[in-house]
Amino acid sequence: MRIEDHPILGRVERGKEIALTVDGKSVVAFEGEPIAAALMAVGRRVFHYTTKRREPRGVFCAMGRCTDCIMIVNGQPNVRTCVTPARDGMIIETQIGRGWRGNACDGDKRKGQGYGEDRGRRCRGRGSRNGCSH
Ligand code: FES
Repeated sequence: MRIEDHPILGRVERGKEIALTVDGKSVVAFEGEPIAAALMAVGRRVFHYTTKRREPRGVFCAMGRCTDCIMIVNGQPNVRTCVTPARDGMIIETQIGRGWRGNACDGDKRKGQGYGEDRGRRCRGRGSRNGCSH
């Protein structure tokens, strides 16, 4: 559901209609609106799952401060969808933890990119519980 006519701001003008692919499904959005707004308009509330407890998170601050809305956008993890404009053809995936894609761990890739162990941002070998082989 989208607001069409706001009592204070007036009638909402939108960009052209575009298509996003979200977890393999097509979602209609309007060019330039935040990705999170497009997803909420179709009823989506969970955008990622937390690193340790796998708790669901969705839009909280809606202004780019809390990172509860992060998702993987065009292969890039940790994108704050509440402040990222939608563009035609974007491929968006639910993010699990920090930089995890689906149930697959990219721990090796992160180590190679210099995400050092001391920063705690690489795979910690949780094993089959999360579909990780590290
Ligand atoms: S909802 Fe807080 S950063 Fe997006």
